[in-house]
Amino acid sequence: MALASSLLILLMLVPSCSRQTETREKPPTTEAAMQEEFKGAYQQEAPPSTGVREFEITAKPSVVSLFEGRDMEVWAFNGTVPGPTLRVKLGETIRLQFKNELPQPTTIHFHGVRVPNAMDGVPGVTQPPIQPGDEFTYEFTPKDAGTFWFHPHVRGSEQVERGLFGTLVVEDVPSLGYSQDVVWVLDDWRLTPDGSKIDPRFNTGGDLMHDGRWGSTVTVNGRLNHELLVKPGERIRLRLVNTSNARAYAPNFDGLDAKVIAVDGMYTERPLDPAGFVLAPGNRLDLDVRVTKEQQGELFAVVDQFSSRRTYQLASIRVDGVPVVTPGFKSPAQAKIPDWKDALSTPVHTDFMLNARRGGKFGIEWLINNRPYSDYKPTSLAAGKWHRLRFTNSSGRLHPMHIHGQFFKVLTRNGKPADEPYFRDTVLLRPRDVVDLGIVPLDVGEWMMHCHILEHAEAGMMTVLSVQSADLASETPPAPKP
Ligand code: C2O
Ligand code: CU
Repeated sequence: MALASSLLILLMLVPSCSRQTETREKPPTTEAAMQEEFKGAYQQEAPPSTGVREFEITAKPSVVSLFEGRDMEVWAFNGTVPGPTLRVKLGETIRLQFKNELPQPTTIHFHGVRVPNAMDGVPGVTQPPIQPGDEFTYEFTPKDAGTFWFHPHVRGSEQVERGLFGTLVVEDVPSLGYSQDVVWVLDDWRLTPDGSKIDPRFNTGGDLMHDGRWGSTVTVNGRLNHELLVKPGERIRLRLVNTSNARAYAPNFDGLDAKVIAVDGMYTERPLDPAGFVLAPGNRLDLDVRVTKEQQGELFAVVDQFSSRRTYQLASIRVDGVPVVTPGFKSPAQAKIPDWKDALSTPVHTDFMLNARRGGKFGIEWLINNRPYSDYKPTSLAAGKWHRLRFTNSSGRLHPMHIHGQFFKVLTRNGKPADEPYFRDTVLLRPRDVVDLGIVPLDVGEWMMHCHILEHAEAGMMTVLSVQSADLASETPPAPKP
């Protein structure tokens, strides 16, 4: 902090010395100015705890009714797929007693939640894997109200595909007044040819060489053709979560008054048109949907248009029943998002090159800066400081890159300024894309950064960002790997 403020003082002095020789148009562009702009964007700490909410979750092989009512063998949290939606109010502490009754070790990672590092659920980095028959208690107080999800971080490409995922909704305090608050979990399934089982061939060569495991059975909340019933006049909060191993979605809300209010759990600067938004694996999108009286009797199909080869009907919204008065509160999409307009004059701290090579246990390894995860070298970042990071996709495949424990803002795509007035925790890179992002990591610890195509992650596309307290980071080399 002392360093930051002395830098600031220095910055304030520089222009006044050079006033005679130059006319000053813009404030000085520096990392310190970027940090200054970040202030107030989101809080460093969770609000003081208002109480503890206890949850119990068991992961075990189960039989659940999926699709149109077919009994399927899955692995499930508490016997349901999707797993439970944990709902808490901002300020409440979550204490989750987890029991592993799977035939494999596992962990739970809370995707997008700014947890203390020890609660991040990453085997070998933040905790030992939880062995079959063992228990572990996760405890943390969420810092942000929004839509999050949780899933294992051990053999994710198999465990998530078998059905292990759930959502975490952190509600605003006071609550906002939507007439319905709805979670839609988007997922796809690859089944055996007769449709009776989840295809047990995980991490196939084809999946690894291409964009991971895409299934052709696409569900919302485990159902085919899920239907949401709404009354004329309702105002609904629709929380979309993509839990697929690899599939991305571009849902179409044509005909509806729907506005994006949050991306990856965090409120946007203003309500945004949903057209063009893509949910890559891991992404969330929250919508504010106003149903008018005139829409009485109508049926809206929500269709995924990500792939040019085939569209999928995800769900539909049926308007029916006795009209209600529309709740009239202001949109919650009013976050303070830094512009970081001058960010491009700061140097790139690290360029993460994404590509693949032959080798490893699957015959192909996905790499970050030419290293698979088995040989990762952590990248040090200084807590509270501005960093400009770059992803360079040197491959012809998709890579939704995800950072644990922090949010970032996309600055440019392929050299062009990105118009993203919001933070993210996962950004999709298309073939050969170069994406620059701005990040001010707040929480010290070892945080994973990986591709959220789980087959790519499994085949090596993971690394660690080591966030160190600012004074340490400037003096010490990266922590040795465990
Ligand atoms: Cu959903 Cu390591 O992430
Ligand atoms: Cu990838």
